[in-house]
Amino acid sequence: MNKLKPPAQVIVALDVDSLEEARKLLDILYPQVTIFKIGAQVFTAFGAQLIDLVHKKGAQVFLDLKYFDIPNTVAGAVVAASRLKVKMLTLHISGGKEMLRAAVVAAGLEAKKNNTLAPLLIGVTGLTSSCANAQEVIALAETGISCGLDGVVCSAREAAILRKKINKDFLIITPGIRPEHSGADDQQRTATPLEAIKAGSDFLVIGRPILKSNDPLKTTNEILESMRL
Ligand code: C5P
Repeated sequence: MNKLKPPAQVIVALDVDSLEEARKLLDILYPQVTIFKIGAQVFTAFGAQLIDLVHKKGAQVFLDLKYFDIPNTVAGAVVAASRLKVKMLTLHISGGKEMLRAAVVAAGLEAKKNNTLAPLLIGVTGLTSSCANAQEVIALAETGISCGLDGVVCSAREAAILRKKINKDFLIITPGIRPEHSGADDQQRTATPLEAIKAGSDFLVIGRPILKSNDPLKTTNEILESMRL
């Protein structure tokens, strides 16, 4: 592992049913957790209000809407997300090089215009539900990084392979994290926090193990502790 690399961070998936639930979780988990993932379901239900809630708490947003559309539309979505001041966002690498480059250019131009940092653009390699194989994941990750993305989403198993294959600085975001002794839920390729870090992940996305815990703060602290071992 690169000794100069910043320590891996936990991102909690705000997969909740109400704004009230989101507010409670933010109150409990911040500042132990400073980045929260907002996915398609909660964004459709609560929109920018939820992003606002996270920002007002002092935390940052990982907007996981997995953009996949014509280049012009994705570029527009990236500009809109930049204006919402999200820290990072996802788009499908399988949307193609033209789409990816349009997103990278749009994010850069918008940031320059406002003299701010562009959101980190994170490519989705394969969905766990569609069983992309390692070769496909590697090829997609190489395409994404060569088009200027800042990082990719992949499992811990693939993270280790990508770190060996791609000789460049890029971020790895890994969902499907399960602390030692917790169930897998519907995740196929789980890893413990420490396994994911050792494989080269920079950000660990965790949902149910924390959301469904009787004591989410205690579980979070245990996870953070396990990452330092
Ligand atoms: O509850 P759990 O820890 O499994 O949540 C993982 C989060 O990461 C969910 O919000 C899920 O949508 C997301 N995710 C995933 N697998 C991917 C991409 C995103 O589980 N390949």
